[in-house]
Amino acid sequence: MKRVTIQPLFKYSILFNAVLSPAKDINSNLFMSGRYALERSLLELIKKHKQFEKIYIPNLICEEVVTIIENTGIKIEYYNINHRLQIDTKMLEESITDKLSVILIVNYFGFPSQWGRINEMRKRKQCIIIEDNTHSLYSSLNKKKLGCYGDISFNSFRKILPLLSGSELISNTKDIVFKNTHESRGLNISEIMYSLRGFKNLFMKKSSRKKNINKNKYLPPEPIDIFSKRILGNYKFDKNKIKMIRVKNYHFWYNYLRNQDLNFFDDLKLNENICPYVFPCYADNNEIVNKWIKWGNEHNINIITWPKYHPSTIPFLNDDFKKRILCFPVNQQFDLTHIIR
Ligand SMILES: Cc1ncc(COP(=O)(O)O)c(C=O)c1O
Repeated sequence: MKRVTIQPLFKYSILFNAVLSPAKDINSNLFMSGRYALERSLLELIKKHKQFEKIYIPNLICEEVVTIIENTGIKIEYYNINHRLQIDTKMLEESITDKLSVILIVNYFGFPSQWGRINEMRKRKQCIIIEDNTHSLYSSLNKKKLGCYGDISFNSFRKILPLLSGSELISNTKDIVFKNTHESRGLNISEIMYSLRGFKNLFMKKSSRKKNINKNKYLPPEPIDIFSKRILGNYKFDKNKIKMIRVKNYHFWYNYLRNQDLNFFDDLKLNENICPYVFPCYADNNEIVNKWIKWGNEHNINIITWPKYHPSTIPFLNDDFKKRILCFPVNQQFDLTHIIR
């Protein structure tokens, strides 16, 4: 039995299908991954706004984001995310003192952030909002797609679709214009290994993707790989089916885990507008975390903890998330009701 992964397994059949049809050019800004799209957007803002020196980011954030911001030389100020995954928008607004504030807002796990309140704050303060939509692809709020709420937004295709790389950077305001890159590149070693995960569990153990981040060296934004670009341009994914199976798998975990030793995020409301990235929950101690990871290994299911923090984030963490969040897969390539009984 194939291991149930968090991110979809790459499908060579989809690649062949895409390669057989005439190539279509995609008129957008495609990068290797979310972190590079973020980097590109920061570089553009540095160029445009001389007074831009600091970015406000949540303290619930993975090390890749912090590393890439540090690469650009922009200073970081953390704001708090509470155990309900919510921002204290009043406190955030009070802490913003700069003339021009750039704020990173994350739509955690495919669920919308507090966009109503954020938009109100935006009216009162001069700020640029960067929407980190890497956990979400097909979710929406009030009939508007997530990814259209920030002034700038970026996603991470391979978290939801069977691709090897890819992130689209979008500007939702006419004040910020990104010149489209039409670039792509060949596969790197870790992407070749990643594409073979479905064939061999051997490759599952360790992703070498993280090795791409060299902490001491400046890394310029990298474009998407040529195969994933071709698939994005030529292959039509069944959005409704993907959403439907992910929602079904999410419900599966909700029912399976609800009488167990885990805490749920009750404020995350799953409805027909949400396409979840994973089923997230948290444990009271590390023994429980380790128990569930072990359980996953015994059942051939990838259960991960998120995020891996950057060392510079740790002093700013609140107690709730020091232990990190457990993520259970809802990957549309698997029907969990048939796998776990
Ligand atoms: C909230 C968040 N933002 C950004 C990223 C970086 O995205 P990518 O892996 O596509 O570079 C991640 C990665 O997991 C993430 O969880």
